[in-house]
Amino acid sequence: MDRQEQIEILVDHFRNPRHQGALEDADVTMPGGNPGCGDVITVYLKVGDDGKPVADVTWEGEGCTISQAAASILMEMVHDEEWSMEDILDHDYNTMIEILGKEAVQMRPKCATLALGTLKAAVRKYQRDQLRASIGADANAPLPDDEVESIGIVVGDAALKEKGNAAAREH
Ligand code: FES
Repeated sequence: MDRQEQIEILVDHFRNPRHQGALEDADVTMPGGNPGCGDVITVYLKVGDDGKPVADVTWEGEGCTISQAAASILMEMVHDEEWSMEDILDHDYNTMIEILGKEAVQMRPKCATLALGTLKAAVRKYQRDQLRASIGADANAPLPDDEVESIGIVVGDAALKEKGNAAAREH
C-alpha cells in the first residue's frame, strides 16, 4: 500500500468511525489517555471463551485524526479477523506501523498506540480480575503489574485524571 492509499484509509476511518459507541453489557470498560494532550478513548470489551474470538469490542472518544482513525481501524481488524484475547495481547507497535505506516507512528507514537494500548489494558484487567477471583483475593488486592506495551499512554483512573488536568489547563 502506498502512502496516498494509507492516508485515504486513515481519513475515511476518521470521518466514518467503525464500531464506535458504548457497549451496554461490556465485561470491561477501560479508559486510556495520552498525557501529552489529555485525549482519552474508552474501550468496551465483551470477552469470548478461551481461545475464541472476543464477543464484541467497541470504543468512543475524542482526539486527533491519527488516534481516532487508529482506533477505528484496529477495532475493525479485531472484528474482521476474529481476534481472541490472546491475539490482542500478541499485537504491538509493529501492528500499528502496518496499519498507519511507519512515518505516522514514528511522528506521533502516543496517538498511534492509544487504542491498542488501551485495548490490551482492558484484556489484562479482565485477566487480573479473573485471577483475583480464582485465588479468592479481594477485588482491589494488588497483583504484579504488567507493563503497558505502548509508548507512554496511561490507562484506567490515571487516564481520566489526565483528561481532567488537560481540561483545567484550558481554563
Ligand atoms: Fe491527542 Fe493525538 S493529539 S491523541
